Amino acid sequence: MDQIIIEGGVPLHGDLVISGSKNAVLPLIIAGLLSDRKLTLRGTPRLADTQTLADMLYTLGAEVEEFGRGPGEGLSVTAADLSSTRAPYALVSKMRASFWVIGPLLARAHEAQVSLPGGCAIGTRPVDLYLKGLAAMGADIKVEGGYVNATAKGGLRGARIELPFVSVGVTHVLMMAATLAKGQTIITNAASEPEVVDVGRCLQAMGARIDGLGTRVVTITGRDRLDGADYTVSRDRIEAGAYALAVAATGGDATLTGIDENVLGALVPAMRLAGVDFCTEGNANEPVLRVIGPRGRPHATCVTTEPYPGFATDLQAPFMGLMCCADGVSRVRETIFENRFMHVQELTRLGANISLLGDTALITGVPELLGAPVMATDLRASVTLVIAGLMARGTTRISRVYHLARGYERLEEKLSACGARIWREAS
Ligand code: UD1
Repeated sequence: MDQIIIEGGVPLHGDLVISGSKNAVLPLIIAGLLSDRKLTLRGTPRLADTQTLADMLYTLGAEVEEFGRGPGEGLSVTAADLSSTRAPYALVSKMRASFWVIGPLLARAHEAQVSLPGGCAIGTRPVDLYLKGLAAMGADIKVEGGYVNATAKGGLRGARIELPFVSVGVTHVLMMAATLAKGQTIITNAASEPEVVDVGRCLQAMGARIDGLGTRVVTITGRDRLDGADYTVSRDRIEAGAYALAVAATGGDATLTGIDENVLGALVPAMRLAGVDFCTEGNANEPVLRVIGPRGRPHATCVTTEPYPGFATDLQAPFMGLMCCADGVSRVRETIFENRFMHVQELTRLGANISLLGDTALITGVPELLGAPVMATDLRASVTLVIAGLMARGTTRISRVYHLARGYERLEEKLSACGARIWREAS
């Protein structure tokens, strides 16, 4: 297994080109199951998670093909015939988002047998809201032997679905399913995350009728079939946020190409309070955000995770990385997932002073972190350890870095180009 080695203490300078969004491309690939025509997706990132999903689509009888190199590169999904409606445990357990195939399978093939994804490191993550929503659309659902067996004889039908709280995945699945349901579906308390908007826009390009994207009420009027489309995926706001934090944490000055400040939601105001400056450069086609790290230690800043445009839970751990060396005590509250503090123990190995009280972490800033061996525990925790390693004096060795390949394309290459001393070694 590879390790990532970082010799910290170098301020980042240069340009980081942001890749296509992981959290958008996964449901977009799944959306390809809704049509018998080719869906072309451009600007897609090359990640372990997209490969896992391609394997899943292959077992369902669909083809995912990568094409090109450079700016026009991407992948195409062709699901002319669905030869299977069974999503096996071996693939769903690798990546939770594979469960989302349940929506398109039910909508198009009127049946699905999808393995339960099980728990994961950041919490129990149940699927009750998916099942309730699909049942409201007329699906008959049984959970047996670790699988959700769902049928919708005669097809799904539109329904009014009020979600008790915002869920990104449930919004994706119900919106996709509703595009081929009979009649109108209204989802209230829907997620308004940019990735949901991305998926909705692609579905519209495929001929779906959707209103209210980016708001809490999304209305979908079902059609008999969807077409193919050629769609360009948005850039990854979570990758961009992590790099903005890395630049700030090292006291650097660097640009993020392809990302608009607005899409980062509550991150930018929180970082401004911490003493980080931002300026918008570039143009509407290719926005560029310049991040200028604080002079001296960042100010202690408090954040609470919330659905978009609130502070993203996927940036909670990386933000805590920056706060480790803040001047004062910061408070980070996690309200989306129940156990998303796995990174805390590893940060303390680097000398951070963090105490946990229920859903809240109190971080007493220390003047500096010191390099140490640490272990990545999940996707967003791993990038936090990279940020902390870049800040720390001395050498940090991060093990179990396969988590990083799930969500950050060419991370070492991008950071090295900005001066970071970071490389990969086989252990
Ligand atoms: C997606 C993102 C993930 C991000 C999260 C929240 C992808 C591939 N993943 O995950 O990076 O951290 O949104 O922004 O896009 N819940 C239930 N019952 C359900 C479904 C969800 O209780 O049936 C709960 C979850 O346990 C969690 C909360 O709802 O506490 C929100 O999670 P959700 O928005 O569904 O996260 P994902 O879509 O899985």
